[in-house]
Amino acid sequence: MRSSRSHSKVARSAVAAGLLPLLLATAAAPATAAPPAKAQEDASYGQAKKNGLRTVAPDDLVIGTAAAGGGHHLTAGYPDPFTYDKQYRKILNAEFNSVSPENQMKWDFIHPEEGVYDFAAADAIVANAQANGQVVRGHTLLWHSQLPAWVTEGDHTDAELEAILKDHIQTVVGRYKGRIQQWDVANEIFADTWDAGGVRLRDDPELAASNIFIERLGPEIIGKAFRWAHEADPEAKLFLNDYAVEDVNTKSTAYYELAKELLAEGVPLHGFAFQAHLDLQYPFPASLEANMQRFDDLGLETAVTELDVRFTLPESGVPTAEQLAEQADTYQGVLEACLSVEDCNSFTIWGFTDKYSWVPSFSPGQGAATVMFEDYERKPAYYALHETLAQASGEEG
Ligand code: XIL
Repeated sequence: MRSSRSHSKVARSAVAAGLLPLLLATAAAPATAAPPAKAQEDASYGQAKKNGLRTVAPDDLVIGTAAAGGGHHLTAGYPDPFTYDKQYRKILNAEFNSVSPENQMKWDFIHPEEGVYDFAAADAIVANAQANGQVVRGHTLLWHSQLPAWVTEGDHTDAELEAILKDHIQTVVGRYKGRIQQWDVANEIFADTWDAGGVRLRDDPELAASNIFIERLGPEIIGKAFRWAHEADPEAKLFLNDYAVEDVNTKSTAYYELAKELLAEGVPLHGFAFQAHLDLQYPFPASLEANMQRFDDLGLETAVTELDVRFTLPESGVPTAEQLAEQADTYQGVLEACLSVEDCNSFTIWGFTDKYSWVPSFSPGQGAATVMFEDYERKPAYYALHETLAQASGEEG
């Protein structure tokens, strides 16, 4: 067991150290008074290189980020971030030793037409990871969302659909064999009906977001997906991944039961992952550590895979000191839960700069959800993670 620390200590120390007013002043300053963007980016990279999160993390925990590209970025009016924003990539490589393709391994990106795979963007991420000593989290294989129309609107028979899924999993997993640490094999397979009659697999066409594979082929397809992935890369750790499962609740308990069933059937399930897209308008998921522990007790690894912490921005668009402090507490609390559980080996934030965060596009009015402002100035949340990781390493070393 790793030991856990007091929840808000580091956030308070960031405030005490005077960092908070400095960050706020920078965020609020008129454009003319701000340092040139390039100088700020360079300073941020310098800091990352000398002292990035990966440099202070305990040896048995990788610190990851989503690699921005595809998805909402396609309509954002800037070139593909991971491909073209060199400064972004430099900071990413210096800060993180794990990387998750934000969209570049999803069906609509990597398998845009029947029989046609486009691996270029995913290949670039995997190659960059190898060159920079990073592991990769593969994301994702069996999901209801970001599927191309040729899958959702094709007139395939059930047998054809199953063959398509098998081919997809074996082709994609096989291509990156030996180079992916963890795969999110099944993503978001439970419906959000926990407060309206309990959870179930996404097999109900009444639900807005039904998973076509589960709907057509039945829940047995989940175990098959894991077996196919395992055949294609026996070394990769295979995960279930979802949101709103941080607390012990109906949804996470449904997963706990499913995990037990899959394990009893001999399915190669190795981990359960908590996306952790959190929002300050809801209480901190206080049972996260206990929840992680119960999955750990099943012999599974656990991971935090998509942490970000959104809140409603004031009219000025500039977060308040209180919001940033509470956000820092939340980031720190999730990290501490992971540090406290033996086999929580991977901690990933869903992007590290507000410049490319998905949150404002998907939750209008909300934002500032990552650990750095758009110009890579670090927020209290960044320092909370940094200090918590450094302390964890110190105590272990
Ligand atoms: C999001 C991406 O960040 C966006 O760029 C894209 O437009 C939509 O998907 N849960 C997941 C992720 O598993 O794949 C989602 O990523 C966020 C929610």
